[in-house]
Amino acid sequence: MGIQYDDFLDTAYSPAADDLRCTFRIVPASDMSMEAAAARVASESSNGTWAALDVETDVSRLSAVAYALRDDGTVKVAYPADLFEDGNLAQVLSCIAGNIMGMKAVESIRLEDCEWPAALAEDFPGPRYGSAVKHRLLDAGDRPALATVPKPKVGLPPEAHAQVGYDAWMGGVDLLKDDENLTDQSFNPFEERVTRSFDRADEAESETGDRKDYLVNITAETDEMVRRAEFVADHGGRFVMVDIVTAGWSALQTVRERTDDLDLAIHAHRAMHAAFDRLPHHGVSMRCLAQFARLAGVDHLHTGTAGFGKLANEDTVGINAWLRSDLHGLADVLPVASGGLHPGIVDSVLDETGGDVMIQAGGGIHGHPDGTRAGAEAFRAAAEAWVEGESPDERAEEVPALRVALDKWGTETPR
Ligand code: 3PG
Repeated sequence: MGIQYDDFLDTAYSPAADDLRCTFRIVPASDMSMEAAAARVASESSNGTWAALDVETDVSRLSAVAYALRDDGTVKVAYPADLFEDGNLAQVLSCIAGNIMGMKAVESIRLEDCEWPAALAEDFPGPRYGSAVKHRLLDAGDRPALATVPKPKVGLPPEAHAQVGYDAWMGGVDLLKDDENLTDQSFNPFEERVTRSFDRADEAESETGDRKDYLVNITAETDEMVRRAEFVADHGGRFVMVDIVTAGWSALQTVRERTDDLDLAIHAHRAMHAAFDRLPHHGVSMRCLAQFARLAGVDHLHTGTAGFGKLANEDTVGINAWLRSDLHGLADVLPVASGGLHPGIVDSVLDETGGDVMIQAGGGIHGHPDGTRAGAEAFRAAAEAWVEGESPDERAEEVPALRVALDKWGTETPR
């Protein structure tokens, strides 16, 4: 029984309900047609290779099919569900975003989107809480959840870190957050930071009457991440943070599975995502990275600031809509807008994202001329004004800290 590249192309193909359907943007190699390149992509990402094969077993039921070639340079590839191991995200990605990313048959190739069948999605846990963290674990109600990351991002000792947390909680944010490159360094050891920060969170809770929590960055070697998650739970924390791209998808799956009985929410920082998604013609889109994260079970995910913060513009609104959409009964994910936010642009971001998000500011709180507490007051006032349909300037008449922030930063988009 022969297998060759042509067998992987069927422009009239009608996908089966259980097929994983992936949309690729392909620029074929200069000497290759779109059809030939698309067939090679379907082949290499399922069960073909460069040589025609004679095999005794019929393996065609595991072959992917390229179809729907469009003038805009996109092609769909349908993968039969049996090609995949249940609940193994790495194995799925080794198919749909594996060798094909480096094939000579394509000048460039980008995985743009995936349509996940129930047969695949239901093998993953999905988020424990999703957007429900706003009322199940926090007192954010109808407003955006508010978080802050101390700046400088590394260098503060545990006591100072916890003090920044206390000031920010007292100013009105719900969550202190570690930065992506703060883990367990000598200047700020993990256990001391966690212990001191939760002590101060308790103080802020009893003084404000609101729930205050801490997104603790547990990113490390996998077993160590699990140990750190247990330490957080032992100290009353309800959230852990994982740098999901640098730590890796399987490590994330391990954290989700091995901490299942700890009832922790997982905050996903996406440091390094742009290595995959920044080039418009090559790599893996942020939309797909967000899909992998939801399947693996993160509760919140950074998805950009719709062009208003310090990060390059991206499809924040479309990605957020996907994170909220139905996925065969898996919980949704709360999108996080973070990166260069300050009170003067909170309304612009929320106009794009809507209020069912988490917004996060580091410099936009701690760079306030009157300090962290005033910065947090200004940030919260800007968010509450948006919810209540008031302009930042109107709200600033009642909240001097907001007036100071607006006078300092205006509506500037930082770079
Ligand atoms: C993040 O973790 O998203 C960044 O550290 C945000 O920091 P910034 O608000 O100072 O840009």
